[in-house]
Amino acid sequence: MTTRPPLLLEPAGIRLDPRQGLARQLYQALRERILDGRMASRMRLPASRELAATLGISRNTVVRAYDQLYAEGYLEGRVGDGSYVAELGAAGMPRGAAPAAAAEATLPILARLRSHGPDSPRTGPPRAFRLGIPAFDLFPFETWARLQAQFWRAPSPERLGYGDPAGDPRLRELIAAYLGNARGLRCTPEQVLITSGAQQAIALCAQLLVQAGDEVALENHCYRSAAQIFAVAGARLQGIAVDDDGLDTRQLAGLTDCRLAYITPSHQYPTGVTLSLARRLELLDWAGRNQAWIIEDDYDGEYRYSGTPLAPLAALDREGRVLYVGTFSKIAFPALRLGYLVAPPALVEPLSQLRALGMRHSETGTQAVLAEFIAQGHFQRHIRRMRRAAQARRDALLDGWPAQAVGALPQVHAGLHVCLPLASVARERELIEQAAAVGVELSALSDYWLPGPAREPPRAGLVLGFAGVDEEQIALALAKLRKVWQCEL
Ligand SMILES: Cc1ncc(COP(=O)(O)O)c(C=O)c1O
Repeated sequence: MTTRPPLLLEPAGIRLDPRQGLARQLYQALRERILDGRMASRMRLPASRELAATLGISRNTVVRAYDQLYAEGYLEGRVGDGSYVAELGAAGMPRGAAPAAAAEATLPILARLRSHGPDSPRTGPPRAFRLGIPAFDLFPFETWARLQAQFWRAPSPERLGYGDPAGDPRLRELIAAYLGNARGLRCTPEQVLITSGAQQAIALCAQLLVQAGDEVALENHCYRSAAQIFAVAGARLQGIAVDDDGLDTRQLAGLTDCRLAYITPSHQYPTGVTLSLARRLELLDWAGRNQAWIIEDDYDGEYRYSGTPLAPLAALDREGRVLYVGTFSKIAFPALRLGYLVAPPALVEPLSQLRALGMRHSETGTQAVLAEFIAQGHFQRHIRRMRRAAQARRDALLDGWPAQAVGALPQVHAGLHVCLPLASVARERELIEQAAAVGVELSALSDYWLPGPAREPPRAGLVLGFAGVDEEQIALALAKLRKVWQCEL
């Protein structure tokens, strides 16, 4: 009598993001488990119908994922007896593996990209309550078009060759002056590097400061795009708890081998808390004692509605340990792809060299137009307009929120989003699915969770962006939520 190999009854830990290709995600999750040995050779997989029911997806999706694994040699079939994990060769690859799979054995970055590659951003016109977008409808496009036309009508020949990799000198000067006035952050224009958004600024920091195997501390929950940069660079991510005062500096101090922390102190992403002054000083002290670096991401610092903003870490830093990141994505629009990095003097030149090697420099015309936009006072006016609009949109959300059905939203003193904690991930998924069914976008707090060694379950909640659409559209979306939630509850 032949004994049947064990059936993989529970596809443990497989979670699929409904916003992205499900078959691809399932294929990747299963392949990862085969490669790292969690699914051993000759293990029998559940029937496609059974797995589809367990994961709450269509059978077709499972069949497509299985087909891909068959095609690459990870699975083999026995007529009438289902799908089995194939025998792996010496290099951990299926015998007769496809070239792409074989490449992974020699290029470890491929596996890291597979597990930590970028999320696909939500696309299409703004909708309530999409995260990460400001009020596009208020941008003064006529002024921008006029300044663009002025620049391109008669550009001086010296601006048409290669530019400074660190950025347009006038723009760097204006940003240094702006940070001094608006944030109390004194820096020289030479310390300011223009980047292609915050994303490139963080990626440059990772390129310079992270070696494969290094520990990097991040807030938990954390900004996924930053975590992905560090993970793909080969870092070991260490999630540090966040409480009402922000990052738990005692937990950070317990790490013995960590020399880099990435943090969003002015408005923690995604929970929304502000790092207290005491914690700021502790964090700087940690960096000084450990010769560590801090990347301070001040992505939405223009949006503060009440209370005095605390000084950025970079303004309190006496030892040159803080790299300060800013972006124009939240005050203008993300497609502009302009941001900046204020670096300690010792790091300016290497960062600028890395930028030169990667992309030479950002496009000259857009930098010059932004400089003119700031110099003529349009930027400051626009900030005031955007802050007022975001505040009104925030109020529309807070006033109309169905608190009796799902719990009251916390107060929002800063930023463009709000986070509502919930009791369970199941509840979180249920509310998000119900909202999606009526065309309202909500995001899951648990998606921003970094699993730790103890594999503690993520904290659940809803994260809502309130600035992307006007009060009327917010009211319409809230009416839909009230209907779908109250009739369900
Ligand atoms: C924490 C955080 N940092 C930075 C950014 C902006 O990134 P970028 O300037 O690359 O558009 C975002 C956007 O959502 C963010 O949430």
